[in-house]
Amino acid sequence: MRIIKVKSYEQMSRQAANIISAQVIIKPDSVLGLATGSTPIGAYDQLGKWYKKGDLDFSKVTTVNLDEYVGLSGENIQSYRYFMEKNFFEKINIKKENTFVPNGTAKDLVAECTNYDDRIKKLGGIDLQLLGIGVDGHIGFNEPSDCFEKSTHVVTLHESTIAANSRFFDSIDDVPKKALTMGMVSIMQAKKILLIANGKQKEEILNKALYGPITPQIPASILQLHPDITIIYSEV
Ligand code: F6R
Repeated sequence: MRIIKVKSYEQMSRQAANIISAQVIIKPDSVLGLATGSTPIGAYDQLGKWYKKGDLDFSKVTTVNLDEYVGLSGENIQSYRYFMEKNFFEKINIKKENTFVPNGTAKDLVAECTNYDDRIKKLGGIDLQLLGIGVDGHIGFNEPSDCFEKSTHVVTLHESTIAANSRFFDSIDDVPKKALTMGMVSIMQAKKILLIANGKQKEEILNKALYGPITPQIPASILQLHPDITIIYSEV
C-alpha cells in the first residue's frame, strides 16, 4: 500500500491524472474502472487538458464505471452516465461504445447486474480502478453492511450517502434511494487500484479503512488486502 499525502486538491488531481496517464501510455488498450463524485473531477479535467495538448490517446481505452442511480437515464443531468460524458468523455477521444456505465433504467435490474459483471470478465478485468470514498466508508455504492457484496448488485443507499449526494440535487427528496454498483470482486480483481480523497471530513474514515480491522461495516477496509493500491490524500 502506497500512501501519498499532498497539500491541495489540485496536487491530488494532478498526481492521480499522472498515474492514469502512465497506465494509458504503457497499455493503450487499458480497461479503466472509473468513479464519479466531486473527488475525481480535477483529475478528469487534467487528463482532458493533456489529451488536448496531444500527450494522450484514449482511442483504444475502455472504461467501466462503478455505479449508477436506479431510475435515471443517461440523459438525466443527475445520472452518472451524464456526469461522465460532461466531465471526462467529451474532453477526450474515447469511443462512446467503449464506455460502460450500469444502466439504471434497465427493465430487469438483476440481469443488468449479471451482464455488467460478464462484460468486465470478457474485457479481461480492470487494469486500473479509480476510487473515491464515502464518509461512511463506501466504495462504489458498496455501503456498510453485514457482508461484502461480491457481484454487481442493486443497493439501497444509506441516509448519510443520500445526504452527502443531495448537494448535486435541487432537494434531498430528489436523490434516488437505490443504485446499481459494482461489487467487491471486480474492484478487488483490478490489477491496480488508485484511491483518491480530499478534505478533513474524509480523514477519520480513511484512517479506519486503511489501518483498522477489515470489516464490511467499513467496505473500503477490504482494500487493505489488495496487492497494488495507491492512496492519494489531501487534507484540503
Ligand atoms: C461514485 C462512487 C462513490 C464516491 C464517493 C465519494 O461513483 O463510487 O463511492 O466515490 O461517494 O464521493 P465524493 O467524491 O463526491 O466525495
